[in-house]
Amino acid sequence: MAANNYPTSLFSSNLKFENENKFGGKLSIAGCPADSLIKEFGSPLFVIDQDDFYLRTKAWKLAMDSEFEKNNLYYAAKSFISVEIAKWLKELNVGLDVCSGGELLVALAAKFPSENIEFHGNNKSEAEIKLAIESEVGVIVLDSFDEINRVSSIAKSLNKTQKVYLRLTPGVEVHTHEFISTAHEDVKFGFSIASGSASDAIDKCMNESNLELSGIHCHIGSQIFEVEGFITAAKRLIEVLASFKKKFGKELAELNIGGGYGIAYTPKEVAISPELVIPAVAKIIKSECQRLNISVPKISIEPGRAIVGPTTTTIYEVGTTKDVTLDDGSTRKYISVDGGMSDNIRPALYGATYSAFLANRSSIANAVKSRVVGKHCESGDILISNIEFPEDVKPGDLLAIPATGAYGRSMASNYNHIPRPAVVTVQKGSAKLILRRETEQDLLNLDVDQAPRRLS
Ligand code: LLP
Repeated sequence: MAANNYPTSLFSSNLKFENENKFGGKLSIAGCPADSLIKEFGSPLFVIDQDDFYLRTKAWKLAMDSEFEKNNLYYAAKSFISVEIAKWLKELNVGLDVCSGGELLVALAAKFPSENIEFHGNNKSEAEIKLAIESEVGVIVLDSFDEINRVSSIAKSLNKTQKVYLRLTPGVEVHTHEFISTAHEDVKFGFSIASGSASDAIDKCMNESNLELSGIHCHIGSQIFEVEGFITAAKRLIEVLASFKKKFGKELAELNIGGGYGIAYTPKEVAISPELVIPAVAKIIKSECQRLNISVPKISIEPGRAIVGPTTTTIYEVGTTKDVTLDDGSTRKYISVDGGMSDNIRPALYGATYSAFLANRSSIANAVKSRVVGKHCESGDILISNIEFPEDVKPGDLLAIPATGAYGRSMASNYNHIPRPAVVTVQKGSAKLILRRETEQDLLNLDVDQAPRRLS
């Protein structure tokens, strides 16, 4: 196996704390001081370390290239996408997995090569399907019988043949939050292999002259640390490929095993690295293909979090603090920052844990039991439930939460009419704004005062 270079650092590779101690210190990211970033672009702010993004993408690509002669790496846009990121991915020569018309339009705005786009989703609208086919996306991943009919008839009306995959559910239970586990039977996605619906879907696709079935897909879930889930899923899909060959006398040439590779959010966790998971999965894929007498298909993966997650740090400003006496007589310091569940819903939604560091100075004050909370009118608006922080933390301090690149800005909301934060990229001492901060006026612009219209 070729040497890999997935950064071993827990968070983005270019986080540096001056006078660092366990609480943090004066932070700079890729040579850009946190306080200067906030002065220039405001707070809260998502800061993406560009070199780190490139390193991580290249490491996954290298792992795939080292194992599979034919392969593709699709970056999962849902984790975070913008026109600038799509341009990076184009430069890095990787594919893009989109799951809505909106994500597709971002890719098209970046002039991302459409043949390298894969279109997902369990309920794509007719307009989205039409846009995908017209813009000649490489592959549409079909998720239901209704969708087989819908894509086929839209392709027919456009006089085109669309390359498709079928999303299958291999019946794998993985250890992650139930909301992000996707390959067991009782789930909205895909065709079950066990129930026979996968096989019916294959038969149906093979009878549709405007669909070219060229592969199968599965995604077992997200934030997964054990290799076994990926291995079991791959095995079950290869069995499907083998039965296809038996039945149709030819081979399905492509197999996409999805994303879901877990990352570290706190020093207690260890990310699953490409050099661990890819060779392990490759070994099984190759031996199973040999055993079942089929060629090794073109293998694709779709990591999102494992690429963008660690690259990004959110910087917040502390607005208020208060000490609360708990039932056991101890004290908890509440540290309120100027964002919260609107820029990071993950702790509230999945009980996700994060780390936080003081980012504008170092402190040698005593550690106190603390809780980092947002500014929303909801007591569940907690970013970090339990953390030791210096007792002298005060309004105006900056606080950095690393590993917020995936499903942070992309799941952000406007709860309480809070504008969504800006996103900047940093590299070698320079910062570039790639998504501007929303303004209250942007939100107010959605309000209209129309005369009522009588509906029949
Ligand atoms: N491929 C498919 C078909 C997916 O549904 C997903 C994620 C991915 C790839 C990328 O998964 P990743 O490598 O990023 O784990 N909002 C949740 C995660 C939801 C994932 C949805 N699908 C969270 O914040 O943890």
